[in-house]
Amino acid sequence: MLRKKLIAANWKMNNAPTGFDAKDSSYRTKSDVDVVIFPTFLDIEKCTKAELIVGAQYGRPEEKGAFTGDESMKQIKTSGCTYVLCGHSERRIHHSESDAFVAEQVIAAIDCGLIPILCIGETADEREMGQAKEVVKRQLETVLLATSHQLQARNLVIAYEPVWAIGTGKTATPTDAEEMHAYIRSLLSEELQNDMRIIYGGSMKPENAKDLLSQKNIDGGLVGAASLDPVAFGKIVNSAL
Ligand code: PGA
Repeated sequence: MLRKKLIAANWKMNNAPTGFDAKDSSYRTKSDVDVVIFPTFLDIEKCTKAELIVGAQYGRPEEKGAFTGDESMKQIKTSGCTYVLCGHSERRIHHSESDAFVAEQVIAAIDCGLIPILCIGETADEREMGQAKEVVKRQLETVLLATSHQLQARNLVIAYEPVWAIGTGKTATPTDAEEMHAYIRSLLSEELQNDMRIIYGGSMKPENAKDLLSQKNIDGGLVGAASLDPVAFGKIVNSAL
């Protein structure tokens, strides 16, 4: 089976890089690689107008209501997004998102036709204490249990993002990352195991992308800092070809 690679640009709280909407922009999706960008909510409209494949960095499960500052999955879908990040570690840390809340987001996203990218990963302390697999298993299984009735390989993407590698310049070695990706795959049901995409995030850059992306169980990348530079991002996308 062939899992199409997916390279995602997580722009976090940064403006859309200059030239993002150019005809030959590296942020445009390719026939052989899915390219998805995650701008701030303020930039979603201009990115969909530029005909990029767009996702939101977060979405609230409730359809509407008194949630100041939030956007619902349904509103995100209506705004033209295809994807949504769920449970990014920066949301878990700065907004105290629990596994249960992340599972609610994933359910709501799938229900309204968005593809959630579920982010899971251990902290440096958890890795040092030998708990990396246990943490990742807990984060994943909460979502798998809650969504088992509606889950298909094409309506969820998993992103393994070791927290200690995000924005730090430290990257998991291709061997360590592959070991965790294979473990995550082994936790999936037989129907999902071959086809579900598991992408890697954490200081992915042009220098390490090829080695990471050539691992058997690494199906793409969730790229933060390097995605703000269109040239560097283009190199990462090309590494996935
Ligand atoms: P980074 O961010 O590439 O800057 O480490 C990745 C992410 O947070 O998704």
